[in-house]
Order: sequence, then C-alpha cells, then structure tokens
Amino acid sequence: MKQTIGFIILLLGLASCSGGSVSEEEQFVGDLLAKMTLEEKIGQLNQRTGQWEMTGPAPKNDNSQQLLDDLKNGRVGSMLNVVGADATRKAQKLVVENSRLGIPLIFGYDVIHGQKTMFPIPLGEAASWNPDLAKLSSQIAAKEAAAMGLHWTFAPMLDVGRDARWGRVMEGAGEDAFLGSVFAKARVEGFQGDDLSSELTIAACAKHFAGYAFSESGRDYNVVEIGGESLHNLVLPPFKAATDADVATFMNAFNTIDGMPATASSYLQRTVLKGQWGFDGFVVSDWNSIGEMIEHGAAANLKEAAERAILAGSDMDMEAHAYVGHLKELIEEGAVDIKYIDDAVRRILTIKYRLGLFEDPYRYCDENKEKDLIYTAEHREAARKIARESMVLLKNNNGILPIDKEVKSIAVIGPLADDKDSPLGNWRAQAIPNSAVSLIEGVREAAGSDVKINFAKGCDLSIGKRTFFDFMTINEDDRSGFKEAIRAAKKSDVVLLAIGEDAFQSGEGRSQTDIGLAGLQMELFDEIYKVNKNIVVVLMTGRPVAIPEIAEKATAILETWHAGSEAGHAMADVLFGKYNPSGKLPMTFPRNVGQIPIYYNYKNTGRPGAEGAGQTLWSCFTDSPNSPLYAFGHGLSYTSFTYSDLKISENVISADGNVIVSVTVKNSGDVAGEEVVQLYIQDEVATYARPVIELKGFDKIALAPNESKEVQFSLTNAELGYFHPNGTYMVEPGTFKVMIGGSPSSTLKSSFEIK
Ligand code: BGC
Repeated sequence: MKQTIGFIILLLGLASCSGGSVSEEEQFVGDLLAKMTLEEKIGQLNQRTGQWEMTGPAPKNDNSQQLLDDLKNGRVGSMLNVVGADATRKAQKLVVENSRLGIPLIFGYDVIHGQKTMFPIPLGEAASWNPDLAKLSSQIAAKEAAAMGLHWTFAPMLDVGRDARWGRVMEGAGEDAFLGSVFAKARVEGFQGDDLSSELTIAACAKHFAGYAFSESGRDYNVVEIGGESLHNLVLPPFKAATDADVATFMNAFNTIDGMPATASSYLQRTVLKGQWGFDGFVVSDWNSIGEMIEHGAAANLKEAAERAILAGSDMDMEAHAYVGHLKELIEEGAVDIKYIDDAVRRILTIKYRLGLFEDPYRYCDENKEKDLIYTAEHREAARKIARESMVLLKNNNGILPIDKEVKSIAVIGPLADDKDSPLGNWRAQAIPNSAVSLIEGVREAAGSDVKINFAKGCDLSIGKRTFFDFMTINEDDRSGFKEAIRAAKKSDVVLLAIGEDAFQSGEGRSQTDIGLAGLQMELFDEIYKVNKNIVVVLMTGRPVAIPEIAEKATAILETWHAGSEAGHAMADVLFGKYNPSGKLPMTFPRNVGQIPIYYNYKNTGRPGAEGAGQTLWSCFTDSPNSPLYAFGHGLSYTSFTYSDLKISENVISADGNVIVSVTVKNSGDVAGEEVVQLYIQDEVATYARPVIELKGFDKIALAPNESKEVQFSLTNAELGYFHPNGTYMVEPGTFKVMIGGSPSSTLKSSFEIK
C-alpha cells in the first residue's frame, strides 16, 4: 500500500503541475480507473454489511469467511454497519494491505439523529422551524460518527410525508416540500461542512429517491402511484435542495413509482438527478432494492435486476450481491456497456478522494478521538437546547403551563414517565440503551425540594422485547398499576401524564392502521381524569397521533416527540417555563385515521367549503369534519404575538420580477418568546390547480415583551412558479394571495398580480 500511496502523491504532484483543465481530482480518479481490472471496478460497486464480529479474532460463519475473501481481493468497495475506530481500522487494513490496488473502503452507517449523543428525531427537530439547530445536530453527529471511524451517513431522509400511518415519518421533516428543502440544506451542510476531507465531517446521503413516503395506505414498502405534478412539486424539491448543497451521495428507494421500481428509474437517476441537476456524487441502492425488483415483478432474476439498475444509474449495490454476481457476465455479453461501470466507479472513487481516504485510509480510525469527542457535556448541552426548541405546545388552557410557582405537588404518571429509552427514538445509531434523561428525572431536578412529586407509572406500554428488529407486544391487560396512579393523581395539584409511543412503534417497518394511543393509555387517562382535571399530557411520539378525546379533555398537551439524550431536562425546561415553547407542527395531526392523507396545502375540490360532518353532495365526510385536530404550523407560546402592517412592495410584477413582503410582529404578552413567522401564498388561478395555501417563507424571531420587529421576505420566481407534470417550471400570470401569520389559519392577507 505504501507504494500505492507514493504513486498517488506523485500523481497529485503531476496533476498540479500540468496547468491543464483537468483537476487534480479528475486526474487522480481517471488514472486509478485506468489501472483497474473489470473485477476491481465491479468490486467498488459492491457494498456489504459488517454485522459480524469485526473486532473478534475470527468471523463466525461461512458467509463471514466469504466476506473476508471478498475484502482481501478487492471485491468490496464499501461496508455498512461496521462501527468504531478499532473495527473500521481492522476492516480497512484487510482491504488496503491485501487487495492489489489497496483502494480504501468507505464506511457508511445510519446516523439519523445523532451517533451517541441523541438529538430529537428529525420530525421533532423540524418542529423547531430552526434550520440552524438541524445543522448543529448534524455537525455534532458527524463529529461523533467520524470519531468512530465512519465516513458516510445514510441521512438526511428527505421524503415529504403526508401519511402518519407510515412509521418512517419520524425520519423526515414532515409534510411540506418548502420546509423540507430548508432542512435538507441545513442537514447536508451540517454533516458535510465545507470540507469533506476534514476528520470532523462525513458524507451525507439524500434518501430515498424517490416517492417512498407515498407508499399506498402508509404501509411500508408498498407501491407508490403519484403522478408528475406531485412528483415535481412535492417529492423532488428537498432532493434538489440537497443537490444544490453539494450532497455527496443519494440513496434510491424500495418502492415502485407508477409501476417503475425507483432503483430502475433512469428518469429519476439519470435524466433528473445526474442530468438536469448535475449531481456528481454516487447513488447507492437501498438495502437489496436491486434484488427486490424480482419480487416487484420487474426483473426475472438477479442478473436482469443488475442490468436494469446499472443502466438506470444506481451506482452502488447495497447487499443485493447483484453487481458482484452478474455485471461481469453482462459486460461480456454486451448487455451493459463498460461506460456505465466506469461512470459509477468514477463517482465512487471521487467521493473517496474528497473524503481524503487516498491520502490516509485510516484518518478516521483514531481511538483517542473516539474517547474524547463523543457524548461530551457540550454535545449534551446542545441536545437539550435543540430538544426544547423542538417541542410543540398543542394546547394550554387556563395558563396551566408553565407550572405555577405556587404548585405544591405534582403527579408524574404514565408508562413513559420514567422511560429512559423511548426518548432515544428509533434509528438511534450507537446510543447507549436507557441513557436518556427521563421525564421524572427532569421534573425532580427542576421542581426543587419544596414540591412534592408523586410518581406512579400506571401501566406499561409494552411487554417484553423491543428492538429495531422486533415488533413490540403491547400491554392490553395489566392494569395493576392503575390504583397507585389514581392515588398519586388525587393527592396532587397537577398531573403530568407521559403517554404516546414507544421508540420502536415508529421507524422502518412500523406502519399502523390505528394511530391512536396503544394499549391501556386512554383508559389510564380516563381514570386519572375522574379524580383530577388538571392534566398536562406530555406526549412522546414518532408520528402525529389521533387523540381527539385527549385534545378535548386534557388541560394542556405538550408534544415532545422522541426528544433524545436530554429529553427529560428539555421537557422540564418547557414545563417549568425556563424555556418558552416555540415549536410549530411540521405535520398535521388528524382527528382520525380515516382523514389520512390530510395536509395543510390541499387543493380545492369543485365542491369546497362544506366544513363539518353530514352535508351531502359536498366534499366532506358524513362522520368527521374535514379539518384536522392540529394543523401544520400550529404551536402555542407562553406569550402572544400580534401581526400588523402587512405590506407588499409592488402591486403588479412581471413573471421574472419579485416583491418584498413585510410585516410587523409584536410580542404582546408578558414574557419573552420566539415566534415562527410564516409566509404563505396562493396562486389563485393556474393551468394546473394550485394548493389553497403554500408555505413560501418563514423566519424565527425572538422578541422581548412589548418588543416589535419588522420581518421581510422576498418572493421571486423561485417561489411563485410551479412544475407542470412533465417537469417544466412555469410562473403563470394572475393574482397571488399573500398570507402571513403564526400559523396558516391566523393570518393577515393581501395580494399582488403577475402580468
Ligand atoms: C433503509 C435505509 C437504510 C438502509 C441501511 C434500509 O432498510 O430503508 O434507509 O439506510 O436500510 O441500513
């Protein structure tokens, strides 16, 4: 390998002296490519999992032996699930010291919302409407992941999700393409920084390309039927934003989209991504998504699947073994041109080059860094700040929150009240099990010794095993803890009731037809309600939940999501008023599952306006209102904000013109607070009907009591147009309504014309 590195350094020198238009990077990659055999090239396209004892003396089964051989012989270009400075060094060494060209592996892992220090689940973080926080948490996650030998995260997930039945909504930024695009950019910038080769950054991966969140009925992996207008306006924008932020890699998706497996979609991967958007990184398949084309009925066998995937622009094969098994034959038969292999290899080598792996394949494998940089007090402090800013106050009657200083006793009840694990959420990377600060711990610390805390769990949420790979068994019968909980509630001034979802109720493969509260939780609520009406529900969920009765009866509801390592501290900060809540929902909470899909930016029907149940011959339900329980953009504060002076700089503009929209926002309450100022538009008449309201700008501002600020937004053709189903972007003439407020429903309105 020393020789290889020497050769590489020589090449770098030559390239820099040449003065030609070929960059050092291109020169290096091109020269390396020229030296590779076909088998070595195909090896670079092969990604294998390392869920075997890398750090142990020997692999444990036959597969592992095969993997060792593959690694030593240059038949693997990347591994996932090998984590830790020591484990990654060992795997890297096998490859670098034994394979002919010693091309280093790139190690990928699902670092979704933290590596060891856990941040709120991404859906929660999006509720902060503060992209700087997402950038910060991604930065820290990258630092911790890089210190554990990793080069690459399979994040951010950019699937715009309108269906709360789909368990993976927890991984995304919610239902809106504009909000999703802002967070996409922030997360990519956070993971990657300015320099991929820094030992503090890792490559990001925009996934799942594309349409995965639109799986029919919210059932994971199900087919997607979406159409061009939604594809271009709703699904693709966050991916475009990630591309513009120079994301290093993409992952395609399990689903078919209008019958075409995403993995075989040349339109998505070649025409749009690599063609129109000029993406120069590589695309990894999702886990065996190449192989799954056979089940889809889109390939007769793995060989055909390999052919379709490589031709469509899927560069790296995650665990289908399709490329390593069949590409050579396909080339020899002339079914696949070598240019496709070369292009894929070039892309992968380029990212490895940018990561600095050719300079030093072990640069990320540093045990000392691993000890020093992970799970630090500083990272946990950031996790606390991010978590509290992610929480959404859904309801707060009688000003029950923040908890009054006069309160003498607080009951902390519920299956999640002392849970130190669920707040870590699903997709928790290397989080230490049971390491989160629980609600009860946070409350005990914050309440001080003068307040009596009466803790009683009431009931368990699940029974037995709960892991990433196992479905949980919900407790449906054991009410033995109810009595104590009722006693605790009776003797307390206020009840904090911690209910919602276990970490493993959401995430991959966790679709639900019922998104109410599982098990005995509703019953527990009702029993407590009989003896104490001052109930503050502390909701912990990985998705929007349908809780109409709770919404009616609880005095307050604080949605805390799965808030990460510092969950309990952050919850206490909000509950006791140390932090004034500022989160707004990134996804609509339905009243019932039958309303799904439900989202704020709907298009009118030909028979709109009939709100409420029971009006025949209008577009409504006979048994439920159309309106949601809590809308996208909703979230309360301990103070109030008043909006005035909405101004638009021009009455009439041309299609390539722009307007400045301004508004004055005043903190009209008596405590300091932060407000998310939201700008919406409606293109009133267009060739293809547009949504009645669409987010096109937001700004989070901090205001002291009585303080006012003017907030300005610019609306340009980037915000005012939309994609026709064929992908053509148009700004069409007509009237545009402008709406500004603290939620889509409480808004000031005005309009302007495009002529
Ligand atoms: C998921 C991806 C993930 C991959 C690797 C798949 O099942 O869909 O999001 O990155 O596994 O763990």
